[in-house]
Amino acid sequence: MTAAKSDICIWVVGASGGIGAAVVSRWLKEPRARVVAISSQTATTAIGGQSPGLIQVECDYSEQAIERTVSELLDKELLPDYVVLAGGLLHDGAQVAPERQLEQLDRAAMHAVFDANVVVPSLWLRALAKPLRQSARCVVAALSARVGSIGDNSLGGWYSYRSSKAGLNMVLRSAAIELKRRAKGVKLIAFHPGTTDTALSKPFQRSVPAEKLFSPGYVADCLVGLMQSATVDGELSFLDYAGKRIPW
Ligand SMILES: NC(=O)c1ccc[n+]([C@@H]2O[C@H](COP(=O)([O-])OP(=O)(O)OC[C@H]3O[C@@H](n4cnc5c(N)ncnc54)[C@H](OP(=O)(O)O)[C@@H]3O)[C@@H](O)[C@H]2O)c1
Repeated sequence: MTAAKSDICIWVVGASGGIGAAVVSRWLKEPRARVVAISSQTATTAIGGQSPGLIQVECDYSEQAIERTVSELLDKELLPDYVVLAGGLLHDGAQVAPERQLEQLDRAAMHAVFDANVVVPSLWLRALAKPLRQSARCVVAALSARVGSIGDNSLGGWYSYRSSKAGLNMVLRSAAIELKRRAKGVKLIAFHPGTTDTALSKPFQRSVPAEKLFSPGYVADCLVGLMQSATVDGELSFLDYAGKRIPW
């Protein structure tokens, strides 16, 4: 499927996730939206139903698969106007879990968290850097987290997850500086969704007051609104669901 000139094209990476799937559904409500739902999972009606605007793509997030996916989508004239990097890892129910103390650090678990939260989003930026030079306007939002804020960290713990999100923010900041020269139409956002009711937050929801536990649909509305109204200013914005700036 190729996109007609008046269509808007959105790529959502990590489309099977709680937030990723809600973002796909939200973008599909926009008129003339072509939504590319990219996932490590096999195509399924659980992502975006059977909407005619939906294109599902499977990708295992290896370097080659990411490069191939980008190149195939561009061959189909699906240069994105919006990109949401919605994947990420906090725990896997087995070896990976947020650490409460230093003794719980585990090399393999830390690598897994950094791979999902820093390396994979960075590889998507790498693959998109050249193509996005052709964009008049493209807003790229990566799912970060407030716990990645160094200034905001008063509780400690969660070493791997916190440091991976801080690392993601730094990659995005450097990318914003580089793309300001190389791809002037690109705006980057590091987005904190708030605690959202998904598999990722499930084991940690007990201490969260009901009004502070957001539905994925609400968070998707917030994110899409922020992306649509974003000004292309060559900066990275670190924003929460309400559009409020978070300290680095
Ligand atoms: N939920 C919250 O309260 C909350 C709060 C703050 C920040 N966030 C951030 O929001 C993002 C989405 O979280 P979520 O709540 O939607 O989590 P989720 O439901 O667990 O979805 C995460 C998705 O990330 C992808 N993924 C999983 N392991 C991966 C790996 N090793 N490498 C690359 N991608 C992987 C998978 O999507 P595919 O299989 O489709 O690729 C998975 O479905 C994450 O970056 C998370 O850190 C969430």
